[in-house]
Amino acid sequence: MKVNALEFVNYRNLSDNRIEPAEKVNVIYGLNAQGKTNLLEAVWLFSGGHSFRGSKDSEFINFSKNNARLFMSFFAGNRDQKAEIIYQGSKKEVIINGVKKSSAAFLSQHFSSVVFSPEHLTLIKNGPSLRRKFIDGSICQQDLRYAVRLNKYNQTLQQRNALLKEILKHKELKDTLEIWDEVLIELGTEIILKRLEFLENLKISAKELHKGISSGKEDLDIKYISSAIKNEENLSKCDIECLLRKEFKRLRREDIYLGVTNAGPHRDDLEFFINSKSARRFGSQGQQRSIVLSLKLSEARLMKEAFEEPPVVLLDDVMSELDQKRQDFLLENTEENQVFITCCEPLSSERLKNAKLFEVCEGVVS
Ligand SMILES: Nc1ncnc2c1ncn2[C@@H]1O[C@H](COP(=O)(O)OP(=O)(O)OP(=O)(O)O)[C@@H](O)[C@H]1O
Ligand SMILES: [Mg+2]
Repeated sequence: MKVNALEFVNYRNLSDNRIEPAEKVNVIYGLNAQGKTNLLEAVWLFSGGHSFRGSKDSEFINFSKNNARLFMSFFAGNRDQKAEIIYQGSKKEVIINGVKKSSAAFLSQHFSSVVFSPEHLTLIKNGPSLRRKFIDGSICQQDLRYAVRLNKYNQTLQQRNALLKEILKHKELKDTLEIWDEVLIELGTEIILKRLEFLENLKISAKELHKGISSGKEDLDIKYISSAIKNEENLSKCDIECLLRKEFKRLRREDIYLGVTNAGPHRDDLEFFINSKSARRFGSQGQQRSIVLSLKLSEARLMKEAFEEPPVVLLDDVMSELDQKRQDFLLENTEENQVFITCCEPLSSERLKNAKLFEVCEGVVS
């Protein structure tokens, strides 16, 4: 997968332009707040997800304009393709190879990229929502049905939570709770099943990569943490469904009392272990960074398997956060990918000597 050209009009702070990246490494450099991450984000948006910075669609439009347009031509699936995203107010239009699509999620069937930003470096230490976002975001890019299910699950969850709050005032509504429970259990089972399957594959390559970074000294393990599931091994769809139903029943009174749903994939988490010890509790900062590096590189590998071609890798400001050894490891393991790196300071790695350079200054990319 390769970006051949990227065009942007009225997008964020960037001056309208068209760039043609190199096939391998591209370095985007410049001082703070010039537009480097904005440029990287423009590439990312063609993977079909939301902003990796949590921005709303309307925020992509330049402050003084009322619409924005992104265009990309890329090589994927053995052919040249093109895609266009037009932002108008809070609405957007997506056109892939000349055909208008009903949802931006369709982009993920044509183009894929993996983003690695400083926020990910806190993945081990911070709260569970970032870890769920990591695993869900990655699966969504590979499996459109998962994205649809997750969306429906979250909508149903909001409806159930609203009902729980009503039940406190109107006890008779309690009987209608079961309808929502069943929808959540059905969708939740599918979500957990897919997460476990993804995790199984992620674990294999993350273990291997982590061994590499730690010069064979550390064994990485990842566990799925769920109040419903105590032992993730060899669970069938039926098993998960039964366990989830039991957990919904067990927590029902608490749910009504608190007005929130306490069981389900929206509460699940991942835990990381190094040599059988919790990395969150005992891992050093360097060890935690290495785990994230292994995870992100594994994500790129799984993406490659799913699409049968390596995804584009976007490294936003992470080089300065990694020591020389980890920087080299990262570049060594993305040699077959097209890579975009943003940084403020020139990077010294020998591996970057053939990179194409883009300077970003006050929104002007040159
Ligand atoms: N919709 C928008 N219209 C105009 N400017 C915007 C818009 N959205 C963001 N900006 C501006 O773009 C500027 C550059 O942001 P960006 O995050 O790309 O900087 P950066 O070069 O990555 O900086 P850093 O090195 O600090 O990460 C910010 O100052 C921000 O205010
Ligand atoms: Mg930035």
